[in-house]
Amino acid sequence: MAARLQAARGAELVKIISVVCQKGGAGKTTIATNLAVLAEQAGYPTVLLDLDPQATAAKWGDKRRGSPPDVVAAQAGRLVRLLEDARKQGAGVAIIDTAPSADAAALEATKAADLVLVPCQPSDFDLGAVGSTVRVAEQIAGKQSWVVMNAVPPTSKITEEAIAALTEVGVRVAPARLVRRLDFVNGLPAGQSAIEWNPKSKAAGEVVELWQWASQQVGMPAHHLDDVRE
Ligand SMILES: Nc1ncnc2c1ncn2[C@@H]1O[C@H](COP(=O)(O)OP(=O)(O)OP(=O)(O)O)[C@@H](O)[C@H]1O
Ligand SMILES: [Mg+2]
Repeated sequence: MAARLQAARGAELVKIISVVCQKGGAGKTTIATNLAVLAEQAGYPTVLLDLDPQATAAKWGDKRRGSPPDVVAAQAGRLVRLLEDARKQGAGVAIIDTAPSADAAALEATKAADLVLVPCQPSDFDLGAVGSTVRVAEQIAGKQSWVVMNAVPPTSKITEEAIAALTEVGVRVAPARLVRRLDFVNGLPAGQSAIEWNPKSKAAGEVVELWQWASQQVGMPAHHLDDVRE
């Protein structure tokens, strides 16, 4: 890890993207893993910190047999130290995946973040959970967050209705969304993200769009210079 990260030049600032939502199964790990691969492909040495005791992202990382990004099972108490280590080693991006909980770990991840993403499926169950996650981010961690609509049907007005309901109560919704697609799932046994499993798929196009928007939000070019790659 250290050698690869230290190979990067001019990447002394780590941009931190945290993915939080107290609702289980909203898509935190899907978004965290896909964004981590895209950040790496864009030329930013990337570390994915998995704060979830279920260790879903860490187990996905194990299946990658050393292929970047680095995936680290972490605890909230060590988050500041791990982010500092990543910064010293030249990481460009840190993505933090969290457990389905509004616990201290999710709060630490939110506080540390340059960008807080809150996945949400277009169902009433998710909309309620998202509201409290967004409020905790804003009122306790002092962070604005963005909802990312995930696993939406390819065509249905329920997504637009969900977005309208969120927007009406002042919740910000990211312009990029992920449709419910098998290309997000089929590569998982091999530890692959959508873009690795099927680069020409609609799923890959959707996460690229999400990465492009997210990287713009944190003020970094979506495509970094090729010469920072190994
Ligand atoms: N856009 C999508 N299309 C198809 N399947 C999806 C999509 N997003 C998530 N899934 C699947 O839904 C399930 C839950 O997603 P994921 O594990 O990313 O959610 P999570 O919020 O991390 O869950 P947890 O709260 O348990 O950590 C997984 O099986 C995942 O593969
Ligand atoms: Mg998860």
